[in-house]
Amino acid sequence: MEKTTDYFLRYKNYNFDIHTTPEIIDSLQSFEIRDSDIFLVTYLKSGTIWTQNIIISILEQDGGLPAHPTNMRQMPWLEYKPKRDISQRPSPRLLMSHLTPRLMPPGLKNKKAKIVYVMRNPKDNIVSYYHFCCAVAHWETPKSFEDFLEQYLAGNVVGSSWFEHIREWHDERDQYNILFLTYEDMVLDPKAAVTKICSFLGRKLSEAGIDHIVEKTAFKNMKNDPKANYQFLPKDFLKGQFMRKGKIGDWKNTFTVAQSERCDQIFQEQLGDLALKFIWDTELPPQP
Ligand code: A3P
Repeated sequence: MEKTTDYFLRYKNYNFDIHTTPEIIDSLQSFEIRDSDIFLVTYLKSGTIWTQNIIISILEQDGGLPAHPTNMRQMPWLEYKPKRDISQRPSPRLLMSHLTPRLMPPGLKNKKAKIVYVMRNPKDNIVSYYHFCCAVAHWETPKSFEDFLEQYLAGNVVGSSWFEHIREWHDERDQYNILFLTYEDMVLDPKAAVTKICSFLGRKLSEAGIDHIVEKTAFKNMKNDPKANYQFLPKDFLKGQFMRKGKIGDWKNTFTVAQSERCDQIFQEQLGDLALKFIWDTELPPQP
């Protein structure tokens, strides 16, 4: 384990937050997967806690999920172990992760356990991550947005490279039982997203049940939900909010034209062959 900065640790060619250890990461290679396991995998700032809230709400409504005071306890991190051993939890175990496929438990490749993977357009991801970096108390506050952008594009942040995350999960998707979603599709049609997740998880909810989850997990409502909004994190850990704006296209308020073009170029170079279709903003083009 190489300590590269005061706030992240580089191990197995990946940048972890300091709240993990090589032992925890190594132990994932023998973590036994159950067929009923449900994983949520994302790169940071892609809508993780939103999707977490949707998955938990679906399972709660379907019955059989033990109650917990916070979503973080109900669906903990795979790579940042809580005090109680996550492997001993009753089924169905719900787990979140920001890891890439090679760091995940190999048993996931039996294609029985389910993975929901959410990605977000990189420009909004960068802006969201920049604000998050300024808010996490034990992380280095970026000198400027420009400086953060360079670190992000070089993969020199917790979670390493966004581009590699997308590439690796995309290239290895046939080896997993995985549902790909985009943050933007979720924002534009949350009912379709909840319905898709519900059917992927093999749960049958009524239309009224789906509508209830859409409403409960909508930004304005989730922001005020103490179980789901992560305001329960201590102030000496997080000075800001997880629930910041929740918008598509907010990057346009921060990026310069040159920064945007640089990002487009790197996106093209690194992921151009994947034919990914991201929605970059929701404004209609000007009328001729
Ligand atoms: P912004 O910083 O752009 O507002 P993560 O959970 O992966 O850390 O992602 C956080 C981002 O998801 C933040 O984006 C946050 O506002 C957004 N988010 C959280 N809950 C949301 C919801 N219910 N609807 C839309 N966006 C949400």
